[in-house]
Amino acid sequence: MCGIVGYVGDKNAQDFLVSGLKRLEYRGYDSAGVVTFDNSGKATLVKAKGKIADLGTKLVSERREDKVGIGHTRWATHGEPSEVNAHPHHVGNIYLVHNGIIENYKELKNALSNYEFKSETDSEVLAALIDSFYKEGKYPLTNAVVQALKLVQGTYGIAVMSDKNPNEIVVARAGSPLVIGVGHGETLIASDASALLGHTKQAIYLNDGEVATVTAGSVEIKTLNAEPVSAKVEEIETNLAAIQKDGYEHFLLKEIMEQPKSLKETLRGRVDTRHGMVHLGGPGLPESELRKIKHLVIVGCGTAYNAGLLASYYIEQFTPEITVEVVVASEYRYRQAYIPKDSLALIVSQSGETADTLACLREIKKQGIRTVGIVNAIGSTIAREVDGGTYVHVGPEISVASTKAFTSQVIAMVMMGLTIAQAKGVRSSFLKPYIEEIASLPEEIRKILEEWNEPVRALADKYKEYDHAIYLGRDTAYPTAMEGALKLKEISYIDANAYAFGELKHGPLALVDDRFFEFALLPDGQLYDKAVSNVQEVLARGGHIIAVTNKKEFDLEVENVVKISTSAKLFAPLLMNLIAQLFAYYMAVAKGYNVDQPRNLAKSVTVE
Ligand code: M6R
Repeated sequence: MCGIVGYVGDKNAQDFLVSGLKRLEYRGYDSAGVVTFDNSGKATLVKAKGKIADLGTKLVSERREDKVGIGHTRWATHGEPSEVNAHPHHVGNIYLVHNGIIENYKELKNALSNYEFKSETDSEVLAALIDSFYKEGKYPLTNAVVQALKLVQGTYGIAVMSDKNPNEIVVARAGSPLVIGVGHGETLIASDASALLGHTKQAIYLNDGEVATVTAGSVEIKTLNAEPVSAKVEEIETNLAAIQKDGYEHFLLKEIMEQPKSLKETLRGRVDTRHGMVHLGGPGLPESELRKIKHLVIVGCGTAYNAGLLASYYIEQFTPEITVEVVVASEYRYRQAYIPKDSLALIVSQSGETADTLACLREIKKQGIRTVGIVNAIGSTIAREVDGGTYVHVGPEISVASTKAFTSQVIAMVMMGLTIAQAKGVRSSFLKPYIEEIASLPEEIRKILEEWNEPVRALADKYKEYDHAIYLGRDTAYPTAMEGALKLKEISYIDANAYAFGELKHGPLALVDDRFFEFALLPDGQLYDKAVSNVQEVLARGGHIIAVTNKKEFDLEVENVVKISTSAKLFAPLLMNLIAQLFAYYMAVAKGYNVDQPRNLAKSVTVE
């Protein structure tokens, strides 16, 4: 989604703003802008529709030595992508960049009838509102911002400047992340810590309801009710290498290929194969509490939801006494769902900032249910608001399509289930096969990626002209099929849907014709023969099947087979997902699309 950067210090502000925005590019955007100020308050405001490179081109003739400014990448919500709708917005003395949505902007706009609005955005209304308080003269900038925010409904991360006092930036947040980087003689602002790397590793993460007044040498934080907040400076854990392509053509391929390493990080110190145990410290629940859990609610969106669904199949296998419900956050937040008191909620999110998931977390907490985060982004809002958590530790995931996070989310949740099962006294001989197999997965993943990268590229080339795909699986292969279909549609814009094999005859079988191909996941196991019968039904109707299987004696006459060889049995579908990831990636490459930043999408969905 949108990105914010800001700089006040002794270096060139335009340089930081542009490089910072480039770091945030991966979040998805359609226009960008920066404003910088000289000592007298003279502003240089430059905006461009399109890419940061377009903004860079415009800035060549607007080069300034200014040492303070703010910048933004916009992902359109109110009003089309255009220069006039791009931020920073300038109203009166105020310059503002905003992430989030001002829900009552129409009402506020009506009340600000003495202002003429240039854009269609809600953000410009907020800039005008701040200006109206500032103009009254009795408020310094910070107070004017606070007065305005008290009237606002919605979500925001904002950075605000006034041309009357160009040496300070006021920032505030409610539901949209903001981090303040503390450097030597400089202070930096970003909506994502990755923009600060290479400048400082010291960061203050602003909390909802806080406002900070920032100068080159100071950061003063207060709540909207004017209570002082003592800033907690934390170390940013990510490093620069982790956010670079490392020789790969796209972040997506890098992230797919990184999975042996990233999963190892998820498992580090948590899996003890010698004693057949997992140890998860993060959830912070004593055994006595774990024993009482009777119900798990898993909440997520998109890939995080699919990961939850796949994990739920496993958790049900080895913890017979508990029920598992997996819910889509955007729906669940508005349902009148009753959650039994002996429940535990797993809040799954790579970014830790997804608006709907965060809203569910807050609702669930209100009901007094304990929450545990399955989060990747360290220090993110969800990670900070859950009662306990298990970081998946896969490092920054830059490509919009989530891959390495999925694999590790599944395993982190399965480990959470195993932790509960251990506490409930499930026989260790029953849990051991899961634990041993989990420990073997990084190496199994490495072998599969090495063997299948090139063949899957060739396979994708054969199917690149199709516009429709059906992904099929049963049992644990069904959520895997869902994730495969999501990946394909997301980056190659092919209409791909997933069905449980058993559902075919209830409708989807009618689709089978030459416009469709079918991606069938056929793990060896007790439902293999049933799935094969379903494949026969598709074949009999002229289906174009790509089968992915680990069955040694696979002899079906399908169009193409990806026969993976692995010692893993329980988690074979998770390994098959690697093939689906590679396939989606190479389909998008073959079609010539922007693989890392697919159209219309953003990495972190911080608005509803
Ligand atoms: O950051 P989150 O895990 O909360 O994000 C959830 C979804 O937005 C995300 O998984 C999305 O579906 C991905 N782009 C799928 O690849």
